[in-house]
Amino acid sequence: MAAIDEKRRAAEAALVHVTDGMTLGVGTGSTVDIFIDLLIEKVAADKISIVTVPSSFATGHRLRAAGFRVECLTSISTIPLAIDGADEVDSQLALIKGGGAALLREKILAETAEEFIVIVDQGKLVSKLGVKMPVPVEVIPPALSLSLKRIRELGGTPKVRQAHRKAGPVITDNGNFIVDVTFSEIIDAAQLDCQLISIPGVLETGLFPHQTNAVYVGTDSDIKRLVK
Ligand code: A5P
Repeated sequence: MAAIDEKRRAAEAALVHVTDGMTLGVGTGSTVDIFIDLLIEKVAADKISIVTVPSSFATGHRLRAAGFRVECLTSISTIPLAIDGADEVDSQLALIKGGGAALLREKILAETAEEFIVIVDQGKLVSKLGVKMPVPVEVIPPALSLSLKRIRELGGTPKVRQAHRKAGPVITDNGNFIVDVTFSEIIDAAQLDCQLISIPGVLETGLFPHQTNAVYVGTDSDIKRLVK
């Protein structure tokens, strides 16, 4: 079955956690886009009302266009639930995120949420983080050269993410660069996250070692629910 159908299954499973009156964190990416389609249908069918908190300009734009009330993270310190996709998920529910360059706000949203639920197709499951995807790191522009040097010293191979249909690097919603870092092996994601963040000018990494409460994995015929 195509990944798009698996993503839809995962998104459908997460939808049951959405209840009337709640403030809901909404992540970024193609799986979340499917979730938003289903959310629009659910809100109309069940005549419920929710407040949304997006993790990116793109998601906020979609939610506003669909008529949702949208709050920004600036004014929110706790929400009951956030739902987001991921690029890799390991058996401990640790993640790599940031394929869409939204990792900084995604991590803030995940930490703001009492419950953080991840929705993925089965292609995202990995035995070890970093096997398929580099670790995205958001770097403030004046720190770029220092960050590249320090990342190499940590054993990583950094590459500044380049934009498509725009000359030069990707610029995040926060005005920063994304450096995609390949490691030959990630032994301890939490430790690596701390080491990367301790580089001056590194704002956040796409490693999410402990934030996840549950993962819905869409498979060819079913849904798997993974919890710690
Ligand atoms: C956005 O920055 C990412 O963290 C996405 O959540 C992640 O890349 C998953 O995206 P897809 O649902 O498009 O695979």
